[in-house]
Amino acid sequence: MKNFTFFSPTYFVFGKDEENSAGKYVKRFGGSKVLIHYGGGSVVRSGLLDRVKASLTANDIAFVELGGVLPNPRSGLVYQGIELCRKENVDFVLAVGGGSTIDSAKAIAAGVVYEGDFWDFYMGKPVTKALPVGTILTIAAAGSEGSPDSVITKEEGMLKRGASGEAYRPVFSILNPALTQTLPAYQTACGVTDIMAHLFERYFTNTQDVEVTDRVIEALLMTMINEAPKVIENPDDYQARANIMWAGMLAHNNCCGVGREQDWSSHDMEHELSALYDCAHGAGLAVVFPAWMEYTMQHDVMRFAQLANRVWGCAMDFQHPERTAKAGIQAFRSFLKSIGMPQTLTELGGKEEDIPYLAHTAAYGNEGNGCLGRFVELKEEDIANIYRLML
Ligand code: NZQ
Ligand code: ZN
Repeated sequence: MKNFTFFSPTYFVFGKDEENSAGKYVKRFGGSKVLIHYGGGSVVRSGLLDRVKASLTANDIAFVELGGVLPNPRSGLVYQGIELCRKENVDFVLAVGGGSTIDSAKAIAAGVVYEGDFWDFYMGKPVTKALPVGTILTIAAAGSEGSPDSVITKEEGMLKRGASGEAYRPVFSILNPALTQTLPAYQTACGVTDIMAHLFERYFTNTQDVEVTDRVIEALLMTMINEAPKVIENPDDYQARANIMWAGMLAHNNCCGVGREQDWSSHDMEHELSALYDCAHGAGLAVVFPAWMEYTMQHDVMRFAQLANRVWGCAMDFQHPERTAKAGIQAFRSFLKSIGMPQTLTELGGKEEDIPYLAHTAAYGNEGNGCLGRFVELKEEDIANIYRLML
């Protein structure tokens, strides 16, 4: 295991009706004038927004609001939010929604206290200062409620890029699983896929002797495999929703990624898909990850076989471990299909002729050094080959 530091200061409030305490927590974390930020209207229709406003008012906290965050959140609204916060002297940003809303809230929070263009953070500048952000989560997926990350799309050129920094960890996050019961099955399944992808990005590592985090990841993956079919079958299954929601946080606040090298090339490849085709992040990952696994499997067949055996219950073939490894990838594909996820790039609207562009922007995206990934370092040509496997 490698040396590490781990600081995850978010105060989590979990359970039914806890959104009614939003005002109390904003006050506890020093907010006096709040920007309530939300998406395309699900929180209006469900009545959640009204409950949150009532809670702020009951605690004598003033607020302004800005809705309209799109899935794959855009920079245009971030600029609007920054301007609004400055004009209204906002000192706290409250995100009510999913990963897109939370990421947009984080970008606004950093932009308000920065003299330059907030996009600098999405071109690699670390985020060291931001207004405090609180979240009320409505979909278990991105893990942004506990992560130090945010992903924004710049309309000009449709560039989807991430920014990171400890200042991006929310000061509090309210997780009421009942709020996720209104999700369409497709969005629920996209969330499940994203959570599993966050675990795989950490599982596939070259770091040796990381038994504790291996085992935590495996337990979370098995939880997802057990609980996801329950909520697809019955969207009102509160207990299954609760297990998935907490797994989503644990999968991405990095408690199971510490002390080990992580990969992240599948996420980088997916971000190009959601930038170009505006598909849901989870749906993109459902197409990318199995292809990436097939392409990189030979690098460490035993790690793939271990996953197949421990998580998917495939019998270990000690003579031919690659057969076990392949059976695990096939089990993952079947699982994704069973929860309604797409299988091919074509289903996402992708075309073979887009692949050179996708591979180039993936390779020269955030880091700009021409390759992706740590488990296996992928050059532009490898990335193009993996995209071809998705057709
Ligand atoms: O906008 P509204 O009307 O709220 O509808 C949303 C949206 O259409 C809807 N929804 C959310 N909660 C709902 C609901 N509909 C009914 N009932 C509810 N309770 O679901 C749709 C998707 O919402 P979105 O916020 O986009 O989903 P998600 O949480 O999957 O976030 C995806 C974004 O997070 C980024 C992704 O790239 C993508 O842009 N990621 C952020 C990360 C981070 N900050 O750490 C890490 C991830 O890997 C990921 O890249
Ligand atoms: Zn993700």
